[in-house]
Amino acid sequence: MELTLAITGASGTIYAYRTLQLLAVSGAVKTINLIMSDIVPTVAQVEMGVNLRDPDTENISRWLGLAKDSRVIRFWRLDNLAAKPASGSNKQAGMIIVPCSMGTLGAIASGAGTNLIHRAADVTLKENRKLVLVPRETPYNAIHLENMLKLARAGAQILPASPGFYHRPKTIEELVDHLVFRILDQFDIPHSRKSEWSGEEVEEIKSKK
Ligand SMILES: Cc1cc2nc3c(=O)[nH]c(=O)nc-3n(C[C@H](O)[C@H](O)[C@H](O)COP(=O)(O)O)c2cc1C
Repeated sequence: MELTLAITGASGTIYAYRTLQLLAVSGAVKTINLIMSDIVPTVAQVEMGVNLRDPDTENISRWLGLAKDSRVIRFWRLDNLAAKPASGSNKQAGMIIVPCSMGTLGAIASGAGTNLIHRAADVTLKENRKLVLVPRETPYNAIHLENMLKLARAGAQILPASPGFYHRPKTIEELVDHLVFRILDQFDIPHSRKSEWSGEEVEEIKSKK
């Protein structure tokens, strides 16, 4: 399948990093159209200590640790409104925005987008394809909440960056993966399912009492 993934300037670049890695090695995705907003290099530098200035297909693939011959990632510039993801006639499964800033959320909700991320999200909704938004802010104000409701009503899947703890994560990676697995599940992308809740845990706790 083909997917578009956009990274915006909300906190949580690591969610995008891990989602991209797992999509790339899943075997289920042929092409990931990758778009980044202008502030992502700043957030990535602050949060992960990486240099994503002047991003292109090659240095993004290197950042993700993908094999040299991996052709999965295809990077598109934010101002390229003639790019593939900007057109509804380009058939693809859908789009993920992870993490999704309140700015991008608002632009999509208003329908008055100005860059390739906004346009691609708008196209995804108008074509009735899956749009998965991973918003991150705290606390949310009424405008953020109204925008999320508006987008949910328009067909978007709101998957907030709020990982669970019932799988008892021991590392940040395990915490991050818990959320990333939920993103992959939206497109039935295979993964290790390590943190899946089976219900048996409760029985186990009860039997120990
Ligand atoms: C380190 C850092 C962390 C940020 N975290 C958030 C956040 O969690 N949520 C949010 O909505 N904006 C956050 N912002 C602000 C956005 O980056 C800013 O509103 C930006 O204009 C969003 O643009 P974009 O949607 O085009 O990426 C953060 C900015 C920085 C520098």
